[in-house]
Amino acid sequence: MILENLKEAVKDPILSLSTACRADMNPNKVDLGIGVYRDDQGVTPIMEAIKIAEEKLLVQQSTKAYVGLAGNEAFNQSMIDLMLGDSSSKDRAVGIQTPGASGALRMLADVIKASTPDATVWLSDLSYANHAPIMKTAGLNVRYFPYFDPETKLVQTDAMMECLKGAGEKDVVLLHGCCHNPTGADLPFSGWQEVTEMAILQGFLPFIDIAYQGFGDGMEEDVQGFRYLAERVPSYVLTGSCSKHFGLYRERTGLAVVAATTLEQSNKIKTRILEAARSSYTMPPDHGAALVEMILNDAKLKENWLAEVETMRLRVTGLRHKLAARLREKSSSSHYDFIAQHKGMFSVLGITPEEEKILRDKYAIYLVGGGRINIAGIQESQIDYIAQSLLSL
Ligand code: LMR
Repeated sequence: MILENLKEAVKDPILSLSTACRADMNPNKVDLGIGVYRDDQGVTPIMEAIKIAEEKLLVQQSTKAYVGLAGNEAFNQSMIDLMLGDSSSKDRAVGIQTPGASGALRMLADVIKASTPDATVWLSDLSYANHAPIMKTAGLNVRYFPYFDPETKLVQTDAMMECLKGAGEKDVVLLHGCCHNPTGADLPFSGWQEVTEMAILQGFLPFIDIAYQGFGDGMEEDVQGFRYLAERVPSYVLTGSCSKHFGLYRERTGLAVVAATTLEQSNKIKTRILEAARSSYTMPPDHGAALVEMILNDAKLKENWLAEVETMRLRVTGLRHKLAARLREKSSSSHYDFIAQHKGMFSVLGITPEEEKILRDKYAIYLVGGGRINIAGIQESQIDYIAQSLLSL
């Protein structure tokens, strides 16, 4: 009988952790799981620029009628401008607003499948926990290229490039634009240059996922590698998220971008993405995109917003340095120095699953399987406790 044969789903490693942590009554619990930014009081604040834009929107908005399959086109263009800057590939890039960047990942996966049913998507080993499920559900093959070196905690660029030498015209190479999730280890600029040359020569499609622009070295600095690639490769696809740098998590605000060899071809592909959207969710939610559009097109609001993102970035980098310093002090060892070098919200600690379990069961410190911690979830008063607990393993 239909439905009666179904077994319960395997729990999502990130979302199920949040539920478990919320239910934990230990007053010392530390939530280093899901990737949300928190201030030093443990609160994920609504950004000031968002609050102001919301007030304006409340007054200005006169209808809740449908917007359209591609969502807010002014939002799409403003986000393309933010991610691409002056990159010449902007002339052939088109965007579609999606329900979060996960929606964008899925829509792009669907059109890749429609174009090349036996395409393989290459993911970094490790990669964001939802990359493989999304690509596989769209019917694409998934394989992994070497990325994170568990010894150095850096990118193993040589092994990565050696593996990608085998990628050809039926391959897609998914790269994190900045602030790699989960490892915190970013591809150096020279790595972007190498991948660019290989994509041009070998014909694979670069797929860039940008979810943390502004959390690494700065809003412009974080996308230099991506922009280098975008200007040179014949075609690429890109996803952008407003969850983190606009703090719009629950508003599901993201976009998919396609840049083919010509604008005409990009627009044809856009119709296929719209077709995929129509047959799944139809249209994205409006609220988050309306706010982002307003902020990015108002000089004063944009300036406020950029300053707020910079404050968040500095808090996260400060926490990285403080945690690494405390661990160095307490252990007289440089073992955890890499935490200060990593970029963005996350670092992979290189601890075993058994050690993760001890952290959770004995110390109520919650981290994502594979040893990922969300630095942006730490409160300064917890640094000592986290360092002590880690060193007890
Ligand atoms: C994360 O990696 O924790 C976030 O991007 C949340 C999510 O959707 O998985």
